[in-house]
Amino acid sequence: MGLSAIRIDAHRLQKDLVDLGGIGEVPGGGLVRMALSDADLEARRWFKNRMEEAGFRVREDAAANIIGRLDPLEGSPSSPCIGVGSHIDSVPNGGKFDGALGLCVGLEAVRAIRESGLPLPCPLELLVFTDEEGSHYAGTFGSRAMLDLLLEGEIYRSRSEDQPSLSADLLRMGKDPDRIAEAIRQPTEFRAFLEVHIEQGPILNAAIPIGIVEGMVFLERHIIRVAGQSGHAGTTPMQLRDDALVKAARIITGIHEALVHSGTDMVGTIGNLQVYPGVFNIIPGRVDMFLDLRAMDELTLDSGRNTIREIVESETNAQTELILSKGGISMDAGIMQAIEDSCRERAIPCTRMGSGAGHDAMSFQTRGIPSGMVFIPCEEGKSHGPEEAIRWEDAARSAQVLADVVIRVGSAGRREKGLGS
Ligand code: HGY
Ligand code: MN
Ligand code: MN
Repeated sequence: MGLSAIRIDAHRLQKDLVDLGGIGEVPGGGLVRMALSDADLEARRWFKNRMEEAGFRVREDAAANIIGRLDPLEGSPSSPCIGVGSHIDSVPNGGKFDGALGLCVGLEAVRAIRESGLPLPCPLELLVFTDEEGSHYAGTFGSRAMLDLLLEGEIYRSRSEDQPSLSADLLRMGKDPDRIAEAIRQPTEFRAFLEVHIEQGPILNAAIPIGIVEGMVFLERHIIRVAGQSGHAGTTPMQLRDDALVKAARIITGIHEALVHSGTDMVGTIGNLQVYPGVFNIIPGRVDMFLDLRAMDELTLDSGRNTIREIVESETNAQTELILSKGGISMDAGIMQAIEDSCRERAIPCTRMGSGAGHDAMSFQTRGIPSGMVFIPCEEGKSHGPEEAIRWEDAARSAQVLADVVIRVGSAGRREKGLGS
């Protein structure tokens, strides 16, 4: 009995995606399900129930990652597992499939394997990672906590005064943030890690419904801090002002122009800024800006960072602080081949491609755990907004491919370069 025995239930998968997509939905169809918010906790409870129904033993670690485990009937439960996972938190007013697709597809693939009667080739873990979107501080928090990739003291920091830190939210959940290190797993516990995700870009479409991710972007996050002199908005002459927001505005346009004309694939975004004191009648004395900077190669990113630092430091009392640097990894060659083999055998057109978005799979590959990602198209490449949409048949196809790859990678005898372990 081979892979053809695995039957994905496309309707069950679609129902899961629709039901999960309703948790945290706001008028206009977007999702407000930020990490560890009430909506996120409700979605976590919903997904835990689905996992338990499917026979997983479910627990939560010190970083609030949800870990569902299935052990094969034979073989030692301590042998390395295959991890399948993604995230359930969203960006503000985000889409219904970013993260959620990978979890529902992972659940469906494992259910279909179990229903096929094929023996599990090794222990499987379905993983829901905390705060992938970095709403507290820096992204892919849960997978970095699991793989010992956290920044020193990261959980006690927050990006702005009105945003609780992760430690505050973990305490609210009844966890002890000082024990965060208990979430750390050894890379040797995993044979491989697999993640299915929407592409969030313009390459895939109905004609090419599967993307095989070759590598992930180099990604940095900076906080640019600009200091000025606050003062009375009515009595301070314009010539005597040191307005932090005016300086910040020059920095923003300077960075934008430099990146537009860089002649490279580098992208930079100032997604938010905090103005202090932030009221009508006081000249801004301080501005903090959040910069997300990405490039597919390290040299480009290095030069971009230097250019940006020059632009920032051309203003008085302005500097940039690098708070996170990650990515720039190549996915496992053998897992890419296993994905391609499954697509070929099932006559599903596919293409190899890079990822401009960061994902939890990055954390696993960074720790040397053979990892692979499968992308499916989202309508017009749009994501991180209510217009995010997929074709149900693409979700079902990705579940089929994922199930094939789990069996292939799990059955491979050795941990050789290239095919999981
Ligand atoms: O920001 C990203 O690349 C991802 O959507 N978290
Ligand atoms: Mn996202
Ligand atoms: Mn995502």
